[in-house]
Amino acid sequence: MKIGVLGAGVMGSGIAQVCALGGDDVVCYDVDASALADGRAHVTTGRFGIDNAVERAKVTRAEADAALARITFTGSFEAAATTDLVIEAVPERLELKVRVFRDLDRLAPAETILASNTSGLPIAAMAAATDRPDRVIGWHWASPAPVMKLAEIVVTPETGEDTIATVTDTAARYGKHPIVVKDNPMQWGFVANRVYFAMVREAQRVVDEGIATRAEVDQLMMDCFRWPSGPFGMVAGAGSGWS
Ligand SMILES: NC(=O)c1ccc[n+]([C@@H]2O[C@H](COP(=O)([O-])OP(=O)(O)OC[C@H]3O[C@@H](n4cnc5c(N)ncnc54)[C@H](O)[C@@H]3O)[C@@H](O)[C@H]2O)c1
Repeated sequence: MKIGVLGAGVMGSGIAQVCALGGDDVVCYDVDASALADGRAHVTTGRFGIDNAVERAKVTRAEADAALARITFTGSFEAAATTDLVIEAVPERLELKVRVFRDLDRLAPAETILASNTSGLPIAAMAAATDRPDRVIGWHWASPAPVMKLAEIVVTPETGEDTIATVTDTAARYGKHPIVVKDNPMQWGFVANRVYFAMVREAQRVVDEGIATRAEVDQLMMDCFRWPSGPFGMVAGAGSGWS
C-alpha cells in the first residue's frame, strides 16, 4: 500500500514513521521546507524516532533502515495525493482542511481514500468538499503516534463500508486499536477529546477556585488513577510532541 501524509509536523511525521514501519511506502508532504527537514529528524533521531526504537530493541537496524528508505519527504502535493490512502495532518483549521480536501479530490485517483487526523472538526464538512464522500473518513491518532494505540475512526452517514474496512484493517496492521465512532458535526472532539477536554475544563476550574495548583492537580490525578501524566501535563505534552 502507498500512503500519503499531508503535514510533516508533530503528528504527520509520527504517522509517516508508523506507516513505514508497518511496511508501507510513504510520501510525506509539507508546504514548509524546514518542516520537512524537522519531520525527517523526528522520524530518525527524535525521542520516539526509529533510531530510538532500534536502541530499545523494538526493531532491528535492518528493519529500521528499510522503513526509513520507504519514506519520501517532499514538497510535491501531487506525489502525496497520488497514493492509495492519504492521511491529512495539517493545522486544526476547518477552512484549511476543506481547501486541502478539495485539492486532494482533484488530484487523487478516484479510488484513493482521504482520511483526516483532525482532533475533532466535522468529517462531513471535509467530505462535502469532495465528489467522493464515501471515501472520506476520520482517522484520529494520538501523540506520540509511534507509541499510542489510539485509532479513533470517525464515519459519516456517507462513509462507505469498504472505506471503513480498509482503514480499520490498516490501523490494526500498524498495531493500533481501531474503534469506529460517529461524526457529530454539532460537537467538536468526537469521543476521546470530548471526554478529555471535559476533564481539562474541570481541572482548570479547580485551579481557578484556588483549591490546588496545576502541579498538585496533575500529581493527584496520577496518584489516583495511575495516569502517566496529569491533565495539564497532557496538554503541554500533546502540544510539544512529548519531546
Ligand atoms: N499534536 C497532537 O497531540 C495531536 C493529536 C491528534 C491530532 N492532532 C491533529 O493533527 C493535526 C496536525 O497537528 P500537529 O500537532 O501535527 O501540527 P503541527 O503544527 O506540528 O504540524 C502541522 C504541519 O502542517 C504543515 N502545513 C500547513 N499547511 C499545510 C498544507 N496546506 N499542506 C501541507 N502541510 C501543511 C505545517 O507546515 C506543519 O508542519 C491537527 O489537525 C491536530 O488537531 C494533533
